[in-house]
Amino acid sequence: MASSSPFLIVAIDGGAASGKSSTARALAARFPFLHVDTGAHYRAITAEMLRRGILPEETAVTRALGDLVLGTRVHNGAALLEIGGRVPGEEIRSPEVNAAVSHFAALRPVRAALLEYQRGQTSVAQAHGFRGLIMEGRDIGSVIFPDAGLRVFLHADPEERARRRAKEGQQDSVAERDRLDSSRQHAPLTCPPGAVDINSTHLSLEDVVARVAALVNAHIATAP
Ligand code: CDP
Repeated sequence: MASSSPFLIVAIDGGAASGKSSTARALAARFPFLHVDTGAHYRAITAEMLRRGILPEETAVTRALGDLVLGTRVHNGAALLEIGGRVPGEEIRSPEVNAAVSHFAALRPVRAALLEYQRGQTSVAQAHGFRGLIMEGRDIGSVIFPDAGLRVFLHADPEERARRRAKEGQQDSVAERDRLDSSRQHAPLTCPPGAVDINSTHLSLEDVVARVAALVNAHIATAP
C-alpha cells in the first residue's frame, strides 16, 4: 500500500450470520486497517441492560445509558468496546442477548449513543497508526459512514445462515432478528444505494474475502 494513500473506510453490512465478522476479520489481517464489530457494541449494551434488569424501553434505557462510560481497547488489530473500563466477555453471545439485542438496538437513544462512539473510531484507528477502518454492522454504509470509500452488503439465504449459526453451536433465531432489524424505524437493515451487493449463499469465506480484497485493492490503486 502506498504510504500516501488516504485513510480508507470499508463498511460491511448484512443480516444475521451473513458472514460479516469472518470477512471483516480476514480483511483486517490482510490490510493495515482497524476492525470494528458494531454488533458487539449492541450486544454489550444489551448484556449490561439485562444485567441491570432494565427492559427495552426508552426512558429507563436513556437513564441507564447516562451512567455508562464507554471506552475503546485496541487489541490484535481490533477495537473493543469497554464499558466502565471492562471489555465484556462471551456473555454478549448468550441466547438471552441473542433474543433481546434487536429490541434494544431499535431504541433511538441506544443508536444515538453508539453513532457518536462509532464515528469516533476513525480517530482511534489513526491514533494507533492504522491506514483505514473496517467496520461491520447493519447501518454502517447507510448511516454511520455513508461516504465510506467502499461499502459492501452481504446477503445469504436464511436457511444457509441458520445452518451457519447452528454449526457454531449457537441458539439464535436469525430470521426473527432480521425481521426486527429490517422493520425498525431508526437505521433499519437495508442495502444502501451504491453499495456492492454480494450473495454469499454459495460462496466460501475465502471467495467472499477475495472479492472484497480485490475491491479494496482497486480502490487503493485508483486513490488520488
Ligand atoms: O453476528 P450477527 O450478524 O448475528 O449479529 P451482530 O452483528 O452481532 O448484531 C447483533 C444485533 O445488533 C443485530 O441483530 C442488530 O439488532 C444489532 N445491530 C444494529 O442494530 N446495528 C448495527 N450496526 C450492528 C448490529
